[in-house]
Amino acid sequence: MEIVKGINEMRKVRQGFPLEVGCVLTMGAIHTGHMSLIERSVTENPRTVCSIFVNPLQFPDGTDLRSYPSSIEADLTLMERAGVDAVFMPSQNEMYGTGLLTKITFSELSNVYEGIDRPGHFEGVGIVVSKLLNIITPQKAYFGQKDYQQTRIINALVNDMNMGTEVIICDTVREPNGLAVSSRNTLLTKESRERAGCLYRALEHAAVLRASGESLRIIEEQMSLVLNADPDVDRVHYFDFVDRENLRHLHSNKKPCVLIAAITVQGIRLIDNLSID
Ligand code: PAJ
Repeated sequence: MEIVKGINEMRKVRQGFPLEVGCVLTMGAIHTGHMSLIERSVTENPRTVCSIFVNPLQFPDGTDLRSYPSSIEADLTLMERAGVDAVFMPSQNEMYGTGLLTKITFSELSNVYEGIDRPGHFEGVGIVVSKLLNIITPQKAYFGQKDYQQTRIINALVNDMNMGTEVIICDTVREPNGLAVSSRNTLLTKESRERAGCLYRALEHAAVLRASGESLRIIEEQMSLVLNADPDVDRVHYFDFVDRENLRHLHSNKKPCVLIAAITVQGIRLIDNLSID
């Protein structure tokens, strides 16, 4: 497995991979969620390139950036064992040293839900994903459904800019209690982590209520009340049925949709979603 730090070097390594390349972009601290994407790429493509880059632009207030977990040695071992061909791990200077004059905005997609509490976050994701896909030029790129709003933004970016990469969305990997696997879960105590399964249970329960014909507004209110009453939950940020494409809040129980939710447990923000056909 090649470990590549420079942009020019990455382009050369890429040229040496004449067949199809699949890619998985990460910020490191690799867990079973990332591994599911990596394993799928390795299975579906002759070559797989991963990236590890903690992107400062997507942490507008800097706090999460300073505490972002890092486990580079373990990450590289996991990637190598999975059959990854190259890992691109540039420095901040390599990526942003020359400064940036370009800004990327996503109209309504980036200023709702996760974008409200983290203004500038998705614009930062847009910049780094554009740069990484332009450098690696993969045929396929794999992203996790867990970050649903991010998948919509990346889809828009790749389509609008005709980037020529196929975006593949992979199912959310969960802990046994249903909690979506995330590097943030390690910040919870063992007990809170166990009880944080309440978020996924609420999503599943809401889907059952919807199938029985209950009004979306009543389900959202009920499930928010249930979660708020949970002593481990500090706050419910949102629990909404939204349009699959544009993330607009749905008021009628008609089309396939996505139920998206975010809560804070023990000061840690947890997000999740459920697709409903
Ligand atoms: P990161 O949080 O490291 O996640 C990398 C990829 O793994 C993302 O596509 C994310 O959705 C996926 N992922 C995370 N947890 C998952 C889970 N439990 N099941 C399935 N997939 C999961 O997302 C980012 O990094 C960054 O924003 C990035 C796209 C790399 C741009 O900096």
